[in-house]
Amino acid sequence: MRYYDKLVFELSRPGRSAYSLPAEPAGESGFAPVGPVWRETPLDLPELSEPDVVRHYTNLSQMNFGVDTGFYPLGSCTMKYNPKINEELVSLFNGVHPLQPESSTEGVRAVYDFMDKALAEITGMKHFTFLPCAGAHGELTGLMLIREYHMSRGDTARTKIIVPDSAHGTNPASAAVCGLEVVVVKSRPDGLVDVEDLKPLLGPDIAGIMMTNPNTLGLFERDIKEIASLVHECGGLLYYDGANMNPLLGVVRPGDMGFDVMHLNLHKTFSTPHGGGGPGSGPVGVAERLVPFLHKPKVSGFHGNFGVIVRACAYILSLGRENIKLAGKLSTLAANYIKESLKDSYKLPIESVCKHEFVFDGLAEHGEVTTLDVAKRLLDYGFHAPTIYFPLLFHQALMIEPTETESLQTLDAFIDVMHKIAREAADDPELLKTAPHNTPIGRPDETVAARQPILKYSKQ
Ligand SMILES: Cc1ncc(COP(=O)(O)O)c(C=O)c1O
Repeated sequence: MRYYDKLVFELSRPGRSAYSLPAEPAGESGFAPVGPVWRETPLDLPELSEPDVVRHYTNLSQMNFGVDTGFYPLGSCTMKYNPKINEELVSLFNGVHPLQPESSTEGVRAVYDFMDKALAEITGMKHFTFLPCAGAHGELTGLMLIREYHMSRGDTARTKIIVPDSAHGTNPASAAVCGLEVVVVKSRPDGLVDVEDLKPLLGPDIAGIMMTNPNTLGLFERDIKEIASLVHECGGLLYYDGANMNPLLGVVRPGDMGFDVMHLNLHKTFSTPHGGGGPGSGPVGVAERLVPFLHKPKVSGFHGNFGVIVRACAYILSLGRENIKLAGKLSTLAANYIKESLKDSYKLPIESVCKHEFVFDGLAEHGEVTTLDVAKRLLDYGFHAPTIYFPLLFHQALMIEPTETESLQTLDAFIDVMHKIAREAADDPELLKTAPHNTPIGRPDETVAARQPILKYSKQ
């Protein structure tokens, strides 16, 4: 173990400090507090010099993988590069407080107004609420709106929501949290929603359907117009999970496809940093007839995650109306380029032009080697692994989403490594089974790490 890989508590030495304050409280004219606000016993914090602190955090940051350190093709997560100008612009709002008087927050309101109009134009919805702080939070908000809408019409029997079997896990989870019963509609062998399976599910108890388009296999749901008419005819509404909006930017609009309510993941499509649980923003947009219900669910305090909204605003403004249309097309091109380049080495279950992402079902010739082994080996080559074992439709799913921000050279380097790993799997499977070999942590028990994380230092 390197010296600076130790925990800060282990580096601590009594009395060591990174700064010094005057020994005596400064009294009336100074800033140091006097009297009962002083602690009587010192806090049990690590005691370190400034270089120790800087090295500790710098080393920690280097143990991590981010879109600023390398290619991050995590399917379904749109890990596009976050332009640094977004950060510069958001810093202009440092110090704004949600309780400030309205007269002093004109700039803040201008950002919200602009975003409402811009997102309405991009999606074909009428208006947005910016309260939800994540995609799943947006789903819950949107479903609450749908429920409000049916209730307001006295249509109280609509307690079921249809969700495709390819859906992201948050869709059925949000529906359940909203108190709706989930009814699953099957996909056809070509990966699209089976309209024939859908028809018998429709009836007076259906509140609506949740769909993402392109779906989680990266395939455009070509029957969406027919699905929209069928659901509307039965009195239901269409919810659009806009987490997959990236390939459609400036090309097609959910509103024109027939969707009534949707969320966007600003932290994906609009280039704001995410991962590790936040911060996010999942604004919800609605068609005209749902506008009266838009601000009913109070799902967060104040006005949502304003910092994320400013970053997304900076992204939209810096690309502009014409260039934003290129993002979706380039992300689609990049995904198809990788898919076609690798389909001899990896099993492609659905041969079709994809949108921004696609799914392999593991290695073409896998033997003992699993998708997990491939993902772990990729880390040795300095690439983040794609999403694995999702969607659940395939046993060895490997879901790749390159995004539009990667150069051809990066895509080629990734393709070369993926071919190399396929050759290693045939020649030396043990090398993959024991990977990664070059990372600080190799194969933790992920269930224990997720469910019983040790977040607190305790002296042995
Ligand atoms: C298709 C889809 N829907 C919903 C979500 C949920 O978004 P969030 O993680 O912001 O809650 C995701 C996240 O990856 C997604 O890929």
